[in-house]
Amino acid sequence: PNTILIGAPIDSGQRRPGCLMGPSAYRVAGIAQAIRDLGHGVTDWGDVALGELPKGECPNPAVHSLRETLGWTEVLADKTDDALSQGGFPIILGGDHSLALGSVAGAAAYAARRDVPLFLLWLDAHSDFHTPMTTTTGNLHGTPVAYIAGRDGFEAFPPFPKPIPADRICLYGIRSVDPAEHAALLDHDIAINDMRVLDEHGIVAPLRAFLNKVRDMGGMLHVSLDVDFLDPSIAPAVGTTVPGGTTFREAHLVMELLHESSLVTSLDLVELNPFLDERGRTARLMVDLVASLMGRKVFDRPTRSFA
Ligand code: ARG
Ligand code: MN
Ligand code: MN
Ligand code: MN
Repeated sequence: PNTILIGAPIDSGQRRPGCLMGPSAYRVAGIAQAIRDLGHGVTDWGDVALGELPKGECPNPAVHSLRETLGWTEVLADKTDDALSQGGFPIILGGDHSLALGSVAGAAAYAARRDVPLFLLWLDAHSDFHTPMTTTTGNLHGTPVAYIAGRDGFEAFPPFPKPIPADRICLYGIRSVDPAEHAALLDHDIAINDMRVLDEHGIVAPLRAFLNKVRDMGGMLHVSLDVDFLDPSIAPAVGTTVPGGTTFREAHLVMELLHESSLVTSLDLVELNPFLDERGRTARLMVDLVASLMGRKVFDRPTRSFA
C-alpha cells in the first residue's frame, strides 16, 4: 500500500513545548525518501490543522488543554480513517502521544466498518493508562491506552468507535507506571511487557506471541512508537526520558520482526521534541527505525526461517 504521511504538530498533551516541530524534523531527516528507497510509494498530506475547537470540560481541574486535545482527536481520527479507506498505510508524524487518541480512533472506526479486529502495540516507557479523571499531571498524553480500551472518564470525548478488548493490547517496553494506572491495569487483561519481562524472556518471544495472535485472528495492527521506548542515551529528544530503555539493536530487531510479520496497518511516531535533540540524531534514528519496519535490511536473505 501507498504510505501516507500525516503531520500532527501537537504540543497540547503535555507541558514542554517542542513536539509541534516533530513533523518538520521527520521531513528534514528524510522520512519520505527513506521509504521511497525501499520501493514504496509515499504521499505527504502535510500537517493537519485545528478547526474551531469543540466544546468540552473535565471535572478534574488538573487537566489542561482539553478542548485543543478534543480538536486534534477529531481531525486525526478523520484523517487516519481516510488514509486507511484509500488503501493507504498511514504514518502519523507527531506531536505528543495525545495524538493517538485520534489516530487509533480512526483506525478503530475503519476496522469496525470492515468487521476486522484491531490490535494495538504500544512501544513506550509509559503505560499511558490514565483517564482524564485519574491523571495527576493533567497531561492528556498519558491517557490514550485507557481511551482505546474503553475505560470510563472520557465523557468529554467522542465515544471510542469500538474499544479494543484488553487481550488485543500489548504494552511493550514499559518502565514507568503511576499508582492509579497500576491499579487499573490489574483489572485489565492487557499484556504488560515491562522491562522486567523483556529482560527475562528477551525481546523476541513476547512480541512474536502477540503477532501470532494478530495473525491467527486476521487482525489489523496499529503500532504506536513513543521516542521514550528507546534508551535516552540513543534518543535524547524527548521530554519524558526514563533510563533503561531499549537499545539501538533491540529497537531495530523489533522493527524487523514487525516488517516480517506483514501485519502492521498504521503507525504513530510520537513525543519527538526536536528542540531537545542533538544535531538531529533522534529524528534520524526514528526515520531509520521506520525504514527497518518497512523492509530495510542489512542483508536480504531469500528465505528466512525462525524457529
Ligand atoms: N504517567 C505520566 C503522566 O501521566 C507520564 C505520561 C507520559 N506519557 C507519554 N506519552 N510520554 O503524566
Ligand atoms: Mn473524512
Ligand atoms: Mn507515550
Ligand atoms: Mn512515554
